Amino acid sequence: MAGAQPAGAENAFAAELFQPLPARYDLLAELLSFGQNRRWRLELVRHITAARPHRVLDVATGTAGVAIEIASRSQAGVTGVDISESMLQRGRERVHASGLDSRITLETGRAEALRFADSSFDAVSFTYLLRYVADPTATIKELARVLRPGGVMASLDFFAPPHVIWRTAWRVYTRVALPAMGFALGGGAWWRVGTFLGPNIEGHYSRWSLERITDAWREAGLEDVHAQPMSLGGGVVMWGMKRRA
Ligand SMILES: C[S@@+](CC[C@H](N)C(=O)[O-])C[C@H]1O[C@@H](n2cnc3c(N)ncnc32)[C@H](O)[C@@H]1O
Repeated sequence: MAGAQPAGAENAFAAELFQPLPARYDLLAELLSFGQNRRWRLELVRHITAARPHRVLDVATGTAGVAIEIASRSQAGVTGVDISESMLQRGRERVHASGLDSRITLETGRAEALRFADSSFDAVSFTYLLRYVADPTATIKELARVLRPGGVMASLDFFAPPHVIWRTAWRVYTRVALPAMGFALGGGAWWRVGTFLGPNIEGHYSRWSLERITDAWREAGLEDVHAQPMSLGGGVVMWGMKRRA
């Protein structure tokens, strides 16, 4: 995309962080979130499939969990894009095992600079992405660019519980239990993720409040933008529709 920044330090960091994770990613994503990841993901997918899209783009698709759910619950063809080739490799195995090869295509790409023409998709989803990009506003704009007017965009990410009691419990979990459980179940690479996540999530929302992210969606041309914190604020699902010209 013209004007997009070249791959930078954030991209290199994400590619390196996720490189060793795919083998255990799907199991540990569920275990370490106590099954909440699946609940949040299904809520995201519900917003996408309700629009009855034909062409869906799933960005930061990773091991294709969201792409598989969307294809399973709709007639859509899904293109999944991710910066990590190792995550995509595992995703291709999972797509094949699901019997959905004819409707899901996975390819390497950066959310910041998508290779698709304007308005190419009826729906765009992205998950756990904005904490890994240098410029969330520009990235949201780029995601919205490839969405057709009237199309739906939906996202999912971790969130930090706003209530002081749940925030305290969440801090203990993310600072102590998550790294320890990550190490016990997945070894050193998951210890690293476990120690990284809590401070990363809090740091991100201290700069990018939900209000600021919602404004960025609106500036990118989305309307009826909603943000729904889930599981006491451990996750947040967002959705909106691209303004018709
Ligand atoms: C936590 S995983 C989520 C995978 C999948 N969406 C899911 O819900 O299971 C985050 C993914 O974002 C990808 N990613 C990070 N930065 C990216 C970027 N700038 N463009 C595309 N993908 C990116 C990582 O490679 C990783 O696969």
